[in-house]
Amino acid sequence: MTILKINGKTHKFNQDPSMPLLWVLRDILKFKGTKYGCGKGLCGACTVHINGQPTRSCVLPVSAVEGQEITTIEGLSENIDHPVQQAWQELNVPQCGYCQSGQMMAAAALLESNKAPSEQEIEMAMSGNICRCGTYPRIKEAINRAAE
Ligand code: FES
Repeated sequence: MTILKINGKTHKFNQDPSMPLLWVLRDILKFKGTKYGCGKGLCGACTVHINGQPTRSCVLPVSAVEGQEITTIEGLSENIDHPVQQAWQELNVPQCGYCQSGQMMAAAALLESNKAPSEQEIEMAMSGNICRCGTYPRIKEAINRAAE
């Protein structure tokens, strides 16, 4: 039996403990907001927060996160949108949208640790999140908007 705490709620299930968290989130628990991009820890589409830290769920065995605080895009904010989500909507950041939940999770973690990041700090924090549509300028603008 594996027990996970996701978005403040406890989830229990039987599964191979070596299964990556991403598969558990999407296929077993139906948190579909977290996306599969590369499956190799290279693109950032699967980013969730583990104890507030941005983490790639595609390469993380579920056994490694038992007892940790896991947050997905669905639990980023209760009831109202997180400032990052609001800024993303205001600035129409997504194009195809596929990578954007991972982008927002990375951005939210950045702003949690640094309320007023410089352009360089934004670039550093977001450099591992790939967007095939090239929405990078809007992502940066939205992070600055969310930081206001
Ligand atoms: Fe996890 Fe690409 S799907 S980093």
